[in-house]
Amino acid sequence: MAEGKTARLHLEGKDYDLAVLSPTAGPDVVDIRKLYGDAGVFTYDPGFTSTASCDSTITYIDGDKGELWYRGYPIEQLAAQSHYLEVCYLLLYGELPNPDQLLDFETRVTRHTMVHEQMHYFFRGFRRDSHPMATMVGVVGAMSAFYHDSIDINDPVQREIASIRLIAKVPTIAAMAYKYSLGQPFVYPRNELDYASNFLHMCFSVPAEPYHVDPALSRAMDRIFTLHADHEQNASTSTVRLAGSSGANPFACIAAGIACLWGPAHGGANQACLEMLREIGSVERIPEFLARAKDKNDPFRLMGFGHRVYKNFDPRAKVMKESADEVLDLLGVHNNPTLQVAKELERIALEDEYFVSKKLYPNVDFYSGIILEAMGFPTSMFTPIFALSRTVGWISQWKEMIADPQNKIGRPRQLYVGAPRRDYKPLDQR
Ligand code: CMC
Repeated sequence: MAEGKTARLHLEGKDYDLAVLSPTAGPDVVDIRKLYGDAGVFTYDPGFTSTASCDSTITYIDGDKGELWYRGYPIEQLAAQSHYLEVCYLLLYGELPNPDQLLDFETRVTRHTMVHEQMHYFFRGFRRDSHPMATMVGVVGAMSAFYHDSIDINDPVQREIASIRLIAKVPTIAAMAYKYSLGQPFVYPRNELDYASNFLHMCFSVPAEPYHVDPALSRAMDRIFTLHADHEQNASTSTVRLAGSSGANPFACIAAGIACLWGPAHGGANQACLEMLREIGSVERIPEFLARAKDKNDPFRLMGFGHRVYKNFDPRAKVMKESADEVLDLLGVHNNPTLQVAKELERIALEDEYFVSKKLYPNVDFYSGIILEAMGFPTSMFTPIFALSRTVGWISQWKEMIADPQNKIGRPRQLYVGAPRRDYKPLDQR
């Protein structure tokens, strides 16, 4: 981080020099850490649209160019040439593994895929019709009640074990949440399968008959995991960091991240997007929905469109669109009406003045639901799949924060606009 430049704030006749920090890539950052101490004022930035909450070496997004890098590697290269567990290693440790390191990492993750047997009883407390995200928030948080030997955040060995456990067990928990909602028996992981195949096996196999994981579908699943693995300081990652900044254990922090991801403005958009595409139903109804999206008095938004950071194509959406074509082809699904509506909606929106002027482009969630549905997942499983893919990003960011000597509890300030000080009135005087 290069220093040297300064910005000057002129306030009530006094000048304050603020350091300007230059990152490896991206815009410069004005360092306001001492502003309150020196000048007695806060900055105001609801939604953090202009505020960097931390420094990080993990992920970089150039929203104008539509670029995403994990540890410097462009997402397109990783999606085409790498695979999810290698990407997990990269995110966690900062470099691509050599063959021995990869084998060791894969073995460690694989050996942790089973959950404590008593957790099976825990599931039974949930109604069968619970949304799998509701179950996941509860069960992932409950991991802190089962794995006491990995909740000391000050011990790097325990942090490492917690990281491996989370990457290994969250898919098992997501699959169990799904099986529970169906009333089918839980399926134990099979460690001879790769990560994505094992997840498909835990979701779709039943004890009554053999299940063969199609390698092409497993590759598509793996790519979905890779595309969602991290995305710098988004809402759920910031939630994980904020929860972790108080010293909360990693399982509790990841449960907090899952809760935040669930919202339709964030990870819940994949479910909401597919439901919207189904509701539109045919190409003829697109103008009606576009008009609603543009109407200021209608809360409807085009799900799977727009992003806080990308003001260009979301690079993940491009890969996802190609994948959607491949997967539907592979499954012999031709003329899928949802895909037709999606493609036409994208075409019309990208030519529409409203979307063009606001730089609203399809995001990662626009095409992912079509692939997941074709694979056999119900819409309620879309966000859990996002959550399991993002677990490695959350845990990498959490580890980075805990290991940072500058780490302190996150405590935003506010612009108070409530009542001035006033005296309490007894009930009989009101
Ligand atoms: N449909 C219609 N109008 C939109 C949309 C949309 N999807 N997204 C933004 N706008 C408009 C918005 O009304 C506003 O208009 P104006 O300036 O006239 O008030 C303008 O564009 C800027 O929107 P914003 O809400 O200030 O932007 P934001 O950065 O706060 O919101 C967003 C980003 C992703 C929450 C928003 O684009 C959105 O709600 N999109 C739909 C939900 C979605 O697809 N979310 C997934 C995001 S990618 C995966 C992830 O990160 O989890």
